[in-house]
Amino acid sequence: MLQEKVAALLNDQVNKEFYSAYLYLDFSNYFEARGLDGFANWYKIQAQEERDHAMLFYQYLQNNNAKVTLEAIAKPDKNLDSDMAVLQAGLEHELYVTSLINAIYAAAHEVKDFRTMQFLDWFVKEQGEEETNAHDLISKMELFGSDPKSLYMLNSELASRVYSAPSLTL
Ligand code: FEO
Repeated sequence: MLQEKVAALLNDQVNKEFYSAYLYLDFSNYFEARGLDGFANWYKIQAQEERDHAMLFYQYLQNNNAKVTLEAIAKPDKNLDSDMAVLQAGLEHELYVTSLINAIYAAAHEVKDFRTMQFLDWFVKEQGEEETNAHDLISKMELFGSDPKSLYMLNSELASRVYSAPSLTL
């Protein structure tokens, strides 16, 4: 049995991950309207990854006989008034998600819930990668964003991202 606080935080994370998917779809939508289809592709795939994260939390709860409660998903509320603002909102969001994962980890640790800690290990590593990806996008945009030819090349690079299922299975 999952301890009540740990189960509640895991349940909340289902919602937070679906919100992340929603947020990145909004980013994708922004770039689609800008005509930057590579950026739009990159964020659409990011949204798929977030949906996968949500499903992993959902499945983990079910596998541990915990009831899943699905709450309303909030409307994406980030200020998307420039390409850089979008990329920075992405990094800010990933740092927030890392803090959420850490909080669940800490709660699991407190009650010696080693199974949940082991489940979360994958997400701890994943958050490191997601923060790095968000940082890299900002660095590339800083370097190349102001030159149309370079931006075209960067957009082409991001267009090549393809979806792959998460390496964690439950
Ligand atoms: Fe599910 Fe981007 O963290």
